[in-house]
Amino acid sequence: MIVSSGKIADEGKSRPAGGPDGGAAADKLPHVAGPIPGPKSREIFEAEQRHIAPGRQRISLLAGLALDHGEGATLVDADGNVYLDFVAGIGVASLGHAHPAMVNALGEQAGRLMVGTFATAERAEAFRLLADVAPPNLTRSHLYSGGAEAVEAALRLARSATKKHEVMGFWGGFHGKTGGVMGLIGDESKHGYGPLAAGQYLVPYADCYRCPFKLKHPSCGLHCVEFARQQIRNSSAGAIAAVIAEPMQGTAGNVIPPDDWLVAVKSVAREFDALLIADEMITGFGRTGRMWGIEHSGVAADILTAGKGMGAGFPVSAVLMGEQVSHAEPFAKPSASSSSYGGNPLAAVAVAQTIKTIRQEKLVENARRVGAMLLGRLLELKEKYEFVGDVRGRGLLLGLDLVRDNTSRRELSRKVMEIVFKEALKRGLLMMGYFPRVRINPPLVISERQAQTGIEILDEVFAYVRDHVDWHSG
Ligand SMILES: Cc1ncc(COP(=O)(O)O)c(C=O)c1O
Repeated sequence: MIVSSGKIADEGKSRPAGGPDGGAAADKLPHVAGPIPGPKSREIFEAEQRHIAPGRQRISLLAGLALDHGEGATLVDADGNVYLDFVAGIGVASLGHAHPAMVNALGEQAGRLMVGTFATAERAEAFRLLADVAPPNLTRSHLYSGGAEAVEAALRLARSATKKHEVMGFWGGFHGKTGGVMGLIGDESKHGYGPLAAGQYLVPYADCYRCPFKLKHPSCGLHCVEFARQQIRNSSAGAIAAVIAEPMQGTAGNVIPPDDWLVAVKSVAREFDALLIADEMITGFGRTGRMWGIEHSGVAADILTAGKGMGAGFPVSAVLMGEQVSHAEPFAKPSASSSSYGGNPLAAVAVAQTIKTIRQEKLVENARRVGAMLLGRLLELKEKYEFVGDVRGRGLLLGLDLVRDNTSRRELSRKVMEIVFKEALKRGLLMMGYFPRVRINPPLVISERQAQTGIEILDEVFAYVRDHVDWHSG
């Protein structure tokens, strides 16, 4: 069915029509022939390895693939194998790959003007559309090129607005790898980079499956938020400018907190006259079945950072803010918040085209509909396989915890997870399944049929692990 030794399926490079339920891209299914990686992939990968410095993404190293092109929710490697993409460049490829409208828009703009700084009609349109889809209180924005850069800018803005300097973030949080935000990484990956920025405090996120207080929501009364309050009181210098939170945590494993959590977090921020920064790099732009992750809890953020899916692959990010905050100095002084590439004409076109396409193709609704189906199918897998400990999801942001037993909740070993990843790949599914907190975040254009196929592959992989792998140990 999915693995075949036959001829590679049709892999035309152009897509006649976009949209989750129309056009060739929506019909395209995975098809893998021969060993993975194939000979051409191997040759290109090895050539690259000769000069590329170590430290690239684990998924690319584990896969060993060289990609040739993408189409909708599928990727095609150099040997012509077709994979279903449950990664989307870690939430970047919102419109899938090679969306014809984006290809045309960028191509046309590249032939006219690529360098930024001055106002252009395209940039004016991008800012207008951004304000149009933004939460109602966030009417102004700045454009940047990467996520960390936008979060750094958001912190500078919060400092300008409050005249304070400290920040509180969360365990499991990720906001980028630059100096000002590295201390907000809520895991061990920052070890070895000290000293980290001063005045940054981390408290437990509402990661209920792995609650460090061993409590259950709602009977816990959101103890983690009370802990945060005490942490600010007892550990800070009394100068908290901002609380920064992902409305749902991506890097930690697509973790979904209870809806009342962010409401309580905002009230703590207010108690200390701090601003709430919602880092929506992953959760924004329709990923969770709403335009913004904060909509699920009804919380109004003071500052919001967006990126990834916002440019559908073009490197662009944003800081969204309210009118009053936007005038805070020094951030608001001429040249104080600009950058060389932020909001350049290509980036502006990418943002505008992404918003138009999300609206035209009803991709937020698609994320909600296909995501609900995926969640239902994953819950069935939880019933079927003992090692599926937790399943969660909002729209097309879904996570699973694979565990050795459901009492200790000890994670499956790295070795077993690499088998999961490679068995999925062999069957044509590219998925962040190499960590025991499995992340599923396909392009928003994925069709129901493609998503069903992905789950069928996952079912086959889990059956293989159950029957052929000593998953209890390592
Ligand atoms: C929530 C969040 N914020 C910020 C970032 C940093 O983005 P970038 O890798 O573009 O710097 C990421 C990246 O994964 C993220 O998930």
